[in-house]
Amino acid sequence: MNKSHKRTLITSALPYANGPVHIGHLAGVYVPADIFARYLRLKGEETLFIGGSDEHGVPIALKAKAEGVTPQEVVDRYHYIIKKSFEDFGITFDIYSRTSSKIHHQTASEFFRKLYDKGEFIEKTSEQYYDDEAQQFLADRYITGKCPLCGNERAYGDQCEVCGTSLSPLELINPKSAISGSVPVLKATKHWYLPLDKHEKWLRKWILEDHKEWKSNVYGQCKSWLDTGLQPRAVSRDLDWGVPVPVEGAEGKVLYVWFDAPIGYISNTIEHSPDDWEKWWKSDDTKLVHFIGKDNIVFHCIVFPAMSKADGSYILPDNVPANEFLNLEGDKISTSRNWAVWLHEYLEDFPGKQDVLRYVLTANAPETKDNDFTWKDFQARNNNELVAVLGNFVNRALVLTHKFFDGKVPACGELTNYDRETIVEFVQVKHNLESNLDQYRFREALKEAMNLARIGNKYLADTEPWKVFKTDSQRAATILNIALQITANLAIAFEPFLPFSSEKIKQLLNCRHCEFDPQSSANTGDSNSRRNDGELKWNDLGKTDLLAANHPLNQPELLFEKIEDEAIERQIKKLQDSKKANELKAYQAVAVKPNIVFDDFTKLDIRTGKVLECVKVPKADKLLQFKIDDGLGGRTILSGIAQHYRPEELIGKQVCFIANLEPRKIKGIESQGMILSAENADGSLAVITPMRDVLAGSEVK
Ligand code: 2FM
Ligand code: ZN
Repeated sequence: MNKSHKRTLITSALPYANGPVHIGHLAGVYVPADIFARYLRLKGEETLFIGGSDEHGVPIALKAKAEGVTPQEVVDRYHYIIKKSFEDFGITFDIYSRTSSKIHHQTASEFFRKLYDKGEFIEKTSEQYYDDEAQQFLADRYITGKCPLCGNERAYGDQCEVCGTSLSPLELINPKSAISGSVPVLKATKHWYLPLDKHEKWLRKWILEDHKEWKSNVYGQCKSWLDTGLQPRAVSRDLDWGVPVPVEGAEGKVLYVWFDAPIGYISNTIEHSPDDWEKWWKSDDTKLVHFIGKDNIVFHCIVFPAMSKADGSYILPDNVPANEFLNLEGDKISTSRNWAVWLHEYLEDFPGKQDVLRYVLTANAPETKDNDFTWKDFQARNNNELVAVLGNFVNRALVLTHKFFDGKVPACGELTNYDRETIVEFVQVKHNLESNLDQYRFREALKEAMNLARIGNKYLADTEPWKVFKTDSQRAATILNIALQITANLAIAFEPFLPFSSEKIKQLLNCRHCEFDPQSSANTGDSNSRRNDGELKWNDLGKTDLLAANHPLNQPELLFEKIEDEAIERQIKKLQDSKKANELKAYQAVAVKPNIVFDDFTKLDIRTGKVLECVKVPKADKLLQFKIDDGLGGRTILSGIAQHYRPEELIGKQVCFIANLEPRKIKGIESQGMILSAENADGSLAVITPMRDVLAGSEVK
């Protein structure tokens, strides 16, 4: 921490309460924020860690409408699910609140009003789509129409989800209101804008000159925004869900969700510390750090700082260590496509394995570039690192102590050169850990912590206390003393990363009762006078006297267990199933054709018929030749379904066919109609058949 800072305020992006949280959330924001918060607390620094749900915005209002419930009901449902997932994964927020709270509405409202009164906004009137029937302005998401690029009939006013193009509502062909289905009209509406252009100059200096130490992905994105030139941004919307704009004549308007969400950090601080919240937000000796994902960079580095500056009394962030995105098995994580590992489902499938996921997500964190989560890597890291390195070392140290020294910490005797070298090496870990953690390099920091376990494993393998004991029990005692001191160090080093396992190590070491026992024999160094609080703190890291001689240990238990192939295959199958279901959905959405009038439909003569004969057409892979009883004397039809049916499966079956299709010659045979089949997402075909027997030649209508 910089000398001038007395305390650290950590915020983590407020997730939208319109769905549960998944591994991408955890990896990108909450695990790193929690590691940082735990690290600072362990160092004894004054720290406040703020979380909460972001409960406003159009998608939530839209979801409520689609489900026929109120937006409050939607956010109530997800807020508690999200909150519980975070608790389950040991994310130690000092408060996890929500933006639909009264205190937030009041704080956001006052924030806006102060800026309004100071003349920090500009007012602009523009033309926007309005639904006359529903009597309301339409947010971009509320308008659908044809994509001008790919022709998808169900594109949204902000984006076409088929071709991925960003759109503006005015670009849609045949726009329609998603609320009433009517054609929207353009109507003038007034909004308030934050003139970011006026803030550009100081923002340039503050970020580009004074914060060159920010992560390159964050710095780079800010630079590109600033170089493009900042424009005024609307901070209000025509919507009935959110914080009402506290200005006369602003009925039906709310604060834009991205205006009120970051104020949520402040509201939640006020809710947590009503009496001294200002020291966290208005004092230069507070260091403010925002943990976010890369899609939030502009709001935290440019918009929110501009809002704070316009207010004049709030501090600006010292750092914004934004992460890139985590992909899943090579594909972008997506809530709507159900391409995600949901935290609550993970815990159902892997109960008690929170730390395994925390470990994998940190070891593979998308700190500088997008990264991929794969179940195979998850398994490998668990089996080869957590089980084989960390778990194995702790277990060996404990088992050997129980075997040779009755489960009590043996006294340390004279050190060999090799012991000293090992100690020098592991003492270094503290420094390495700190320098990485202080610079938000959590992946590297975790490697350092793991390195400590590797040092321990190597030490035991090289010194072989199980052999030495037979000839020199004192030497074996020294070795195991050192191994146990390393174990205690591991409990500290891993506390920020793997809090559940760290707790378990402390419990195995019986460390809640590490008081000095005056009857015990001498330990290393000056240890006899210390360890009377029973708590392992960050500053104990690197010490070799954390456990006094004779201190009794608990029975060994495994810290981690191997994850078998079947468990991983089940997860992969789950994802594959969800991919199949999605492909089908996407396929069905794209295949929608424009409406036709009824007369067009009646032009088709669709009939039922019975298959009398069916044979493969020679030299044609796909074709079957049918003789159909059509009630009119019979006809020949060719159909391209040979890869989906064997001829004998079809003989005697009833089918539907188009009877008035112009006859066509295929492979020299005249086909007099078309047999109807449905095509599945994977391209497989299923012949359409009536559910009950009907006379051959019956009309299908
Ligand atoms: O991107 C998101 O999920 C937003 N709900 C993050 C808001 S962060 C903060 F400003 F509250
Ligand atoms: Zn498109």
